[in-house]
Amino acid sequence: MRWASFVAGIAATIAVILIVSLVVVLAGGYNIAATDRHSPLVAWALHTNFENSVKSHAGDIAPPQFSAAMIDAGAPEYKAMCARCHGGVGESREDWAEGMLPKPPALARAADEWSHAEIFWLVKHGAKMTAMPAFGDSHDDQTIWNIAAFVKALPTMSAAQYAAYSTEHGEEKERGEAHAHAEAPSPQAD
Ligand code: HEC
Repeated sequence: MRWASFVAGIAATIAVILIVSLVVVLAGGYNIAATDRHSPLVAWALHTNFENSVKSHAGDIAPPQFSAAMIDAGAPEYKAMCARCHGGVGESREDWAEGMLPKPPALARAADEWSHAEIFWLVKHGAKMTAMPAFGDSHDDQTIWNIAAFVKALPTMSAAQYAAYSTEHGEEKERGEAHAHAEAPSPQAD
């Protein structure tokens, strides 16, 4: 008897939580404005889930051997696709990226917290509800490993070294468009 009322009590509580949640959703009760910060509890839950999801998914991925050539190859990709949101070394993110929630972390500092495999997984799959895009459909694994190699090198790079890396995109080189640019040839050119 006691057992039955205990179960009934739990079921009623769950029903109330579901109904309240439904009302909140239908009424647009959770403010989605990026100018409205998450409460500390929600921020903690989202960020902890983000970190642990990346770490568990990346756990089985075996990274390749890294080389200086991979860092060189990752540089133009990073400068073209990541720097506007994440900044570089001595280069801040765009003004509009300041208005994002969550704000894209400065990878020149944050990259130390992640392994090559974790960066690879995150760049390949992106992160839903954060605006961190998935690059896996548009970029092959080799290119994504090059980007990961460049990201991992950021924390030890000076602003001058960062600036010296080529912005000349691999595809542009392949299409022969690179020569249309008035810039000096990059040191990485074949
Ligand atoms: C449109 C903006 C945007 C672009 C472009 C973008 N990212 Fe992100 N990225 C984000 C946001 C926002 C987060 C934070 C997600 C969070 O903390 O929940 C993030 C998180 C990350 C993280 C984890 C950082 C940390 O410490 O939490 C890495 C690593 C990363 N991005 C790498 C990249 C790379 C490499 C590229 C380019 C191939 C890239 N991102 C392009 C927005 C972007």
